[in-house]
Amino acid sequence: MLREDFGFTGTKYGCGEGQCRACTVLIDDQPKASCLTPVSSVEGMSVTTVEGLASSDELTSMQQAFIDMDAAQCGYCTAGMIVEATALL
Ligand code: FES
Repeated sequence: MLREDFGFTGTKYGCGEGQCRACTVLIDDQPKASCLTPVSSVEGMSVTTVEGLASSDELTSMQQAFIDMDAAQCGYCTAGMIVEATALL
């Protein structure tokens, strides 16, 4: 739904089993694997994808740190790593 209905393509679908975390979003500021999270379970809650971390014209310090450190690797799960790291800190 995030990718296809809302167009938030930063969130990736990887394993579909809660292991790779490429699909991580913040649900009420807690990192969750969106692949295991039914839409009905988040009714009335805040869901933040990697696109929602930054303001419209400025990256977060975590996003900038990933760029500065060339931490993208292949890039597929980078959004999930950024969301997880943001929640950790
Ligand atoms: S797609 Fe791998 S944890 Fe969700």
